[in-house]
Amino acid sequence: MRMKKVISSLLIASALTFSATTVFASAGSSLFNSEGCIACHTINGQGGSVGPNLSHVGGKRSLSWIKTQIANPGAHFASGSSVTINGKPYMAIMPAHKHMPASKLNALADYLESLK
Ligand code: HEC
Repeated sequence: MRMKKVISSLLIASALTFSATTVFASAGSSLFNSEGCIACHTINGQGGSVGPNLSHVGGKRSLSWIKTQIANPGAHFASGSSVTINGKPYMAIMPAHKHMPASKLNALADYLESLK
């Protein structure tokens, strides 16, 4: 009887964690559209190609690297220079999002980091 209770609370806890993660990820993916990232970047076949495809960006970049890239891309790539990412050449023209509120920055970066 006691064990059953423990197991069912574990199940409830994991269900809650799952839905929280799902909501979080979808907040990030809608920000990806509403913040204009999609104009230059493709995820899962949708978006532009001015910048690199981000469908698997979480497999090679860390969360903190991604946050820095969004807020201040110049910290990684000299603005206006030509850079090679995933074997393809790009002109480093990503706009800085220095004034993006932390809540948006975190949701977007968490979403991108989850794309492996
Ligand atoms: C005007 C086009 C443009 C927009 C808008 C844009 N980016 Fe970029 N992005 C680029 C380019 C070009 C690069 C290549 C490096 C650079 O410019 O700094 C890049 C690089 C990146 C990278 C590094 C990818 C890798 O594989 O290393 C990430 C992550 C990224 N952008 C995320 C975003 C997010 C999130 C947004 C929206 C808030 C966004 N970008 C908006 C053009 C853009």
